[in-house]
Amino acid sequence: MDVNQITNKEQKEILAKKIAEKVENGQTIGFGSGSTSYLTAIEIGKKIKEKNIKIKAIPTSKDIEEICKEYEIEIGNLVEDKIDWAFDGADEVDPNNNMIKGMGKAMFKEKLNILNSPKNYILVDNTKFVEKLGERHPVPVEVFPSAMNYVSDELKKLGAVETTFRGMTENGNAIIDAKFENICYDSNINLEKEIKKISGVIESGLFLGYNVEVIRD
Ligand code: A5P
Repeated sequence: MDVNQITNKEQKEILAKKIAEKVENGQTIGFGSGSTSYLTAIEIGKKIKEKNIKIKAIPTSKDIEEICKEYEIEIGNLVEDKIDWAFDGADEVDPNNNMIKGMGKAMFKEKLNILNSPKNYILVDNTKFVEKLGERHPVPVEVFPSAMNYVSDELKKLGAVETTFRGMTENGNAIIDAKFENICYDSNINLEKEIKKISGVIESGLFLGYNVEVIRD
């Protein structure tokens, strides 16, 4: 990732520093993906070098894994390690902290980190807040490649007005961006759960009702 190309970089760096302050020796930390997480990984890397402390990272993408290696941060995994806390960015956050993530295509591993972590910090600059999810972004859906057409048809039955193939993930699956005009989240219908029921869906970028703490500058 080219740090000079990162939008809203100053704000993201402030958030990154706030997270680096929380790092303590011996912790296992879930590292999210995207530019905010990338800048945070750099701040954490600088801090552990300065203070001569050791941590373990559970990274969610190759970019983040590379930056961890650069700063000699040990890499762990969710099978053998237990996360103490995790951080990540988001693409949209509504007033109840529901989120759309995955414009960087890494939301499957990001969701796994969040689900495996007792404490999650979501770093949000002021371009990410929305009144209603779906205002600015589609819902990314990671799909087993040969299930793409079937999943697209099923997403339309759930109300997607448009589905677009965006590319492949680092896991070798396809990403379909599904544009919804109404993202339901109530006691009767939970769109995240409905999408997950479709055969061929690995994960979606909807994060509805997760226990996260939003960090803003
Ligand atoms: C990656 O798949 C995403 O979920 C990112 O967390 C999200 O796209 C935020 O990215 P930025 O920090 O680059 O805005």
